[in-house]
Amino acid sequence: MLALRNVDVVFDGVIQVLRSLSLEVRPGQVVALMGGNGAGKTTTLKAVSSLLAAERGAIVSGQVLLQGQDLTNADPGDVVRGGTVQVMEGRRVLHHLTVEQNLRVGAHFRGERAEVAADIDEVYGYFPRLKDLRERTAGYLSGGEMQMLLVGRALMARPRLLLLDEPSMGLAPRIVHELFERVAEVRARRSMSVLLVEQNARAALRIADHGYVMENGRIVLHGSRDELERNEDIREFYLGLGGAQGRRSYREVKHYKRRKRWLG
Ligand SMILES: Nc1ncnc2c1ncn2[C@@H]1O[C@H](COP(=O)(O)OP(=O)(O)OP(=O)(O)O)[C@@H](O)[C@H]1O
Ligand SMILES: [Mg+2]
Repeated sequence: MLALRNVDVVFDGVIQVLRSLSLEVRPGQVVALMGGNGAGKTTTLKAVSSLLAAERGAIVSGQVLLQGQDLTNADPGDVVRGGTVQVMEGRRVLHHLTVEQNLRVGAHFRGERAEVAADIDEVYGYFPRLKDLRERTAGYLSGGEMQMLLVGRALMARPRLLLLDEPSMGLAPRIVHELFERVAEVRARRSMSVLLVEQNARAALRIADHGYVMENGRIVLHGSRDELERNEDIREFYLGLGGAQGRRSYREVKHYKRRKRWLG
């Protein structure tokens, strides 16, 4: 479905943010991209959706392939028409429009009225709360409701690849759980793939088939959900299970463990 091959991203001609980054999302898969602040997760999504140019960034080497088609530094409109939709960080709903108007905006690139109406019903099926709030001004929704609206709006474009940037940020665990359950349900019903960027590794791995961990613009670890959940370092430093060293980087942990072994 999606493949990044040795992608290097540079901003302003000099600031290198992604370094030889490779990852893959197979058809129908949910893939989690995890890592701390500034690791390069959002930049990776922007490389896929071709939103780097707006920030004077570019892929300077490597390739982005979507269903075999080369979309490296492509026109962002072509990416959307090709079936990729990104839900940005930070709850960007259209504040002055109602919930339902926000959903309609998501179908902007599509013509068919009857299908749009059916899709709005489908979205209300996933998120009944949005149906109750359909006439509300979106700017007054709670954080959780806004995030549901953003996912709903993205679904209105009938994406084949959905890019989600930290949807769990600032939400109560119960809301995160519900949101992710819905994402998993949609993925199963429609043939859709998901690239899910998250710092909340525990929540992300619950619905992901495969995961990647990033640090300093590089992938430092990847594997199936089971492999990652079994990995001791992941358990300690990203899932907060066991260990008492506090939250350091994955690289530091490796280093620390090696030293500990040497020193006995
Ligand atoms: N337009 C830009 N120009 C220069 N540097 C940038 C630009 N965008 C991002 N960066 C830098 O690239 C690095 C990665 O940023 P990015 O937003 O991809 O991280 P992230 O993993 O999404 O972090 P967070 O979890 O905080 O959202 C950071 O050091 C950031 O300062
Ligand atoms: Mg980010």
